[in-house]
Amino acid sequence: MNIKNIIYKRKSIRKYKGEPIEKERLLEIKELIKNVTPLYKEIKMQGLLVENGVEIQKISKGIIGSYGKIEAPHYIVVTSEEKEGFHENIGFAFEKLVLDLTHMGLGTCWIGGAIKKELLNGIVEIPENQKPVVLIAFGYPEDSNIFNIELSSGHKRKELEYIALGTLNDTWEEIFQGVRRAPSAVNFQPWRFYKDHSEIHAYVTEGNIITRNLAHFSKLDMGIALCHLKLMCEYKGFKVEFINQDLPKRKGLQYVITIKVK
Ligand SMILES: Cc1cc2nc3c(=O)[nH]c(=O)nc-3n(C[C@H](O)[C@H](O)[C@H](O)COP(=O)(O)O)c2cc1C
Repeated sequence: MNIKNIIYKRKSIRKYKGEPIEKERLLEIKELIKNVTPLYKEIKMQGLLVENGVEIQKISKGIIGSYGKIEAPHYIVVTSEEKEGFHENIGFAFEKLVLDLTHMGLGTCWIGGAIKKELLNGIVEIPENQKPVVLIAFGYPEDSNIFNIELSSGHKRKELEYIALGTLNDTWEEIFQGVRRAPSAVNFQPWRFYKDHSEIHAYVTEGNIITRNLAHFSKLDMGIALCHLKLMCEYKGFKVEFINQDLPKRKGLQYVITIKVK
């Protein structure tokens, strides 16, 4: 299955079969976790596999800001140093893992929310100077027909012209259709892209008084969308480079990064 189909197939899965994933598969997943590709190499982060999901289910009340209870057989706790850009870094690196798991027929769901480090004592070993940032639940979906592409997430998104500005030919429309399907916390879709010839400038919405305290989620969401953008560009035969041009704000939008394509 090509990456475009995997992107279209992925959706957040909130109900899982109870049984764990086969041991060999978990080993394969452990390798994938170890080898995720960061956006910013200099920021240390880690994905810690929790094989026995019950351990996370027991502390789920202590995860502030996550919505709904998601009981999965396994979770990944993502930890990071708190350096400029760490949220985007996590989103970018671990969305590729989410897509790899989707390709294996597994369900996934990002779970945001503040997790107290102490709650994870005895469950995972958090590296020094890092904090837990986000969880990813995964396992076999309870409903095995759930990945039916007809029922995919495309309809739950803002229109393309709202998130991608500039002149878009068919190729670029196809690329941004893949970006548009990126998951985001509370389906907020805070990403906006300005295409200017071979450069795409990425911005996140600053939000209003109520949504402003979701700003850290927006950065995570942006990392996720940048992962989709890179994969879709490569799928269409482009080479991608990320550069920081320190562009000024646009109305209600904060600049994040520029993607140069060749
Ligand atoms: C950073 C982040 C945090 C999320 N946190 C939660 C969560 O705590 N609980 C939940 O049920 N879904 C969570 N989601 C899933 C989103 O609600 C979901 O991606 C969005 O509604 C779009 O739906 P889709 O993923 O099925 O396309 C989160 C997604 C992201 C990207």
